[in-house]
Order: sequence, then C-alpha cells, then structure tokens
Amino acid sequence: MTVSVVVGAQWGDEAKGKIVDLLAQRARYVVRYAGGSNAGHTVCINGTTYKFHLIPSGVLHPHVTAVIADGVVIDLRAFTTEAAVLREQGVDLSRLRIGLGVHLTMPYHRLLDELEEAQLEGRLGTTKRGIGPTYADKAWRIGVRVADLLERDRLAQRLQRVLQRRNPTLQRVYGVKPLNADELIAEFSQYAEQIRDYVCDVPHLLMNAAEQGEPILLEGAQGTLLDLDYGTYPYVTSSHPVAAGACLGTGIAPNRLTDIWGVAKAYTTRVGEGPFPTELEDETGERIRNRGREYGTTTGRARRVGWLDLVALRYAARVNGFTALALTLLDVLSGLPQLKVCVAYRYRGRETREFIADAPALAQCEPVYHELPGWHEDIAHCRTLDDLPSNALAYLNFIEEYVRVPIRLVSVGPSREQTIGEV
Ligand code: IMP
Repeated sequence: MTVSVVVGAQWGDEAKGKIVDLLAQRARYVVRYAGGSNAGHTVCINGTTYKFHLIPSGVLHPHVTAVIADGVVIDLRAFTTEAAVLREQGVDLSRLRIGLGVHLTMPYHRLLDELEEAQLEGRLGTTKRGIGPTYADKAWRIGVRVADLLERDRLAQRLQRVLQRRNPTLQRVYGVKPLNADELIAEFSQYAEQIRDYVCDVPHLLMNAAEQGEPILLEGAQGTLLDLDYGTYPYVTSSHPVAAGACLGTGIAPNRLTDIWGVAKAYTTRVGEGPFPTELEDETGERIRNRGREYGTTTGRARRVGWLDLVALRYAARVNGFTALALTLLDVLSGLPQLKVCVAYRYRGRETREFIADAPALAQCEPVYHELPGWHEDIAHCRTLDDLPSNALAYLNFIEEYVRVPIRLVSVGPSREQTIGEV
C-alpha cells in the first residue's frame, strides 16, 4: 500500500505532469491538493498532448478516480472550458470527484488579481488567475465553497455578503464597475448543475481509501520555492505546494505518506518576479530556454532560466523529506561544453550551503559554482543509465551525492517512453 506525493522541488514547471502520469499507472486515486488554475501540467501520450490546469492528469487512466481535494481553489469558468476540451479529446470525466470544501475563484478574485498586478509597485508577476485573492477570502472567512454552490439560497446569501465587501473596493480603489450579484448567482447556479454529480466529501473518501490500502497519488502544483511559508516570500503563490500541504489539502494524515517524490529539472527556471541566484541572462540561458521550450503552459510567458541550484534542491529535499528524486529535461543540456551547478551561496562575505528563503537576502547571494564537463550526444533515445554518456552519469551522481536522495527517474524527453528508471 502506498500513499505517494509528487512535489515540485524548484519554482514550479518541473514537468511534474509527466511524472504523475507515470506513477498514476499504479494508483487508484490521483489527487490535486493545492493551488488552482495557475498550474499547468502537460502530458503527451501517443502523439496527443493533453493540457491540465485544474483537473488531475490521472484522469487519463481508466482505473483512476481523479480528485480535486479541499485544499484546491477552483475557477468554474476555467474548469468548464478545460473539461470541454478534454471531453473533445475523448477523455472520460465520469471518474472525477470535487470536494465540498473547495473554495471558488470568483470573477471578482480574478479582477482584483489583475488590477493589483497592473500596479507597478509591489508587482509579484502572478498568473492573474485570482489565486491570491481566493485564498485571502478563505482566510478572511468570506470565501464561497462548493458546498455553498449546491444550494441556491445559500449561494445567494454568501455572494451578497461578499459583494458588499468587494464592490466598494472595486469601485473606490480601482474605479471599476461593481459586480452584479443576481448575474453572478444565475451564472454560478448553472455551474452547480454541471459539477453536482462530481461533488463528494473528499476527506472521508480519501481516509477510507487509505485505510483500505488503496494506492493514492497526491499531485502537487507549483513548487517548494513558491510555498507561502517556505518559499521566497513575497514572491510566492498563496498555497502550500510542499508535502505537508498534501496532508492539509486532502485530510490524509502525515503518518500515512509512504513515498515523497521530488521533481526537479536538470537546470532551474522561474516565472514571475523574485530572486534567482543562478539565473543566466546570456546566450547559454537563451539556448536552454529554446531547447527546453521554456514558455509557460498557463500564461505563455518566457521562463527565466539558470543553472541547477543544489543549495535550493537540498533545502527542498529537507523541507519535504524527499524519498526519491525524478530529474527531468536532462536532454536539454546536451551540447553544452561545460555545466555549472551551484554548491553554495556567498552572502555578506561568508559561504553557506543553507538556502536563504528571505527574498531580499537571497537577492544578495552570489552562487558558488562547481563545474562539470558536458556531453554532446543527443540522449533523447536513452532508456537505461548504461545508455547515457559517462559525463551525463557523472552529472547525476554529483546531484545525488550533494542532495543525498536517490534519483529514481530520469526524463530525457516529453513522452512516456523517454524515461530511465522504474516506478
Ligand atoms: P499566483 O500563484 O498566480 O498567485 O502567482 C504567484 C507566483 O507563483 C508568480 O511568480 C507565478 O509566476 C508563480 N506561479 C504560480 N503558478 C505557477 C506554476 O504552475 N508554475 C510556475 N510558477 C507559478
């Protein structure tokens, strides 16, 4: 029996979708536990590309129940579009479940996120999907949950109450039109009918499944360095991508977790603002960005690119308690004569191996690099460690020794087959 968690070990976009898809082969439940439609997971199977923002990618497996757990926030406009595209691609969504406690990202959340981001000062570079304002309302205890949606009177009461708070802000602070409660109630009552059959008590569903020994896979979104508490605050998301967040978001107790997978790219990327010590703003960075097609699945933004930061990866391994690593996009590094990995930071005249999560302090850190020779061979066809050039193997060994977590999967291309290692 396993309850596995897949966690992003960097700033998101680590190709978790592919790793989740591989691990889902053995799972009965695949569960999204945090974040919302700010996430973007891509899975390629037999030449077809499937894109997920909210729906767990495990839904592609006929034996899997795909669950959106209570820690997630759901934008029902985005959900409806995503579900329609997947249905058109022939995906069966009847095995989808959505928690009663899931908070709704409402049109005013999206609007507030956009309006806030339009102000230059204090800009975070969010995905403008309304994620921060939704979690803020949850903490303010004025959020609207799936359970509210299912009863029209309850929904009307909640929405009227929250618009009394939000409309004056929209009007007086941002000078935009207030939202009409009746229109919102009508629109969201329709969504209620579209999702009613999927809704259930997710903590009980998952607690029972765990007790019965069913294999469960908890699918993280974003990454450790974007965690609200353990990331580079304030340049973070507003939920908890870390492994502990999987327990908070699902109701599964910490002592039930058996495998904690960290997914890391063979280099580093970041989208949005915030410090990034190993960032490359030169030709090498451009080359990695183009080879790795480093443009956002959700926003299309060009991702910032840099060398692998082992100080950050070791921190992620400790915060999450990784039991295994999956290293992705190793093929992207082929052809670079020399590779650098960051093994320490120089901060205020001292060297440290401890990650500094405080954003202004991290911005002052200079990376201390270890250099390794690169390899020129294309490795996209490699299927075992023996197929890899010796310099690629040495690169993997160096990472394992530094982070002290075994690399159990290596991805050398987007398709399922382009994988080294067993799940
Ligand atoms: P938010 O989650 O939209 O509030 O954005 C907060 C920060 O997290 C911004 O820097 C985003 O670019 C980043 N972010 C959010 N979701 C993802 C993701 O799935 N991949 C990478 N970065 C993300």
